[in-house]
Amino acid sequence: MHGVGDVRFFDRIAPLYDRVMPPASGEALAAGFDRAERPIRRLLDVGGGSGRAAASIVGPEITVVDVSFGMLARAREQRGLPAVAGDAGRLPVCDGVVDAVMIVDALHHLPDRTAALGEAARVLAPGGVLVVREFDPEHPLGRALEAAEHAFGMGSSFVAPDALADELSAAGLSPAVVDRGFGYTVVGVKPGTGMDGGR
Ligand SMILES: C[S@@+](CC[C@H](N)C(=O)[O-])C[C@H]1O[C@@H](n2cnc3c(N)ncnc32)[C@H](O)[C@@H]1O
Repeated sequence: MHGVGDVRFFDRIAPLYDRVMPPASGEALAAGFDRAERPIRRLLDVGGGSGRAAASIVGPEITVVDVSFGMLARAREQRGLPAVAGDAGRLPVCDGVVDAVMIVDALHHLPDRTAALGEAARVLAPGGVLVVREFDPEHPLGRALEAAEHAFGMGSSFVAPDALADELSAAGLSPAVVDRGFGYTVVGVKPGTGMDGGR
């Protein structure tokens, strides 16, 4: 096993990560952010790693949070992003201060998904949105990915889109499945008007 959150693995591959990974889908993320009920000025990229997904987004002020120092260094040095060390299950962020949170290709690595979703809900302002991009373990390619990650000794735990929507609801967010497939997008909107237009 690589250990909790597969962090040692990500520390080791950080210098290669952006070379081997395809770019993140900015379109899928934008469709998720469209569900917000407030303007998105501050965005927290949880498990944001090297900032690969952040690089596909134009507009908001983005802060990356991750536990891998190797990945955080890439986000800072290669992309000039503010990058903060922190566990998704205990975010170093005050209540209700961000307009959106995204968790891209990272949820399945998190050791405590319930805590991470609860934390995302806590830091969102009313009307803010959590956007999760993940892989469906019920899709044939998702099953193959799950088997491959386990063969690599990763502790990955995948969840199907409808089950994730139920988990977002349990975290106090209003969920929707935005797109389905091998890679899918699920969002959760924090209840509240969010009509103050931000701070
Ligand atoms: C596959 S990478 C995805 C990175 C980025 N979101 C992207 O799309 O390129 C998964 C990331 O989750 C991070 N991670 C694992 N456990 C974590 C935890 N408990 N809290 C925060 N980040 C974590 C890893 O360090 C790694 O950078």
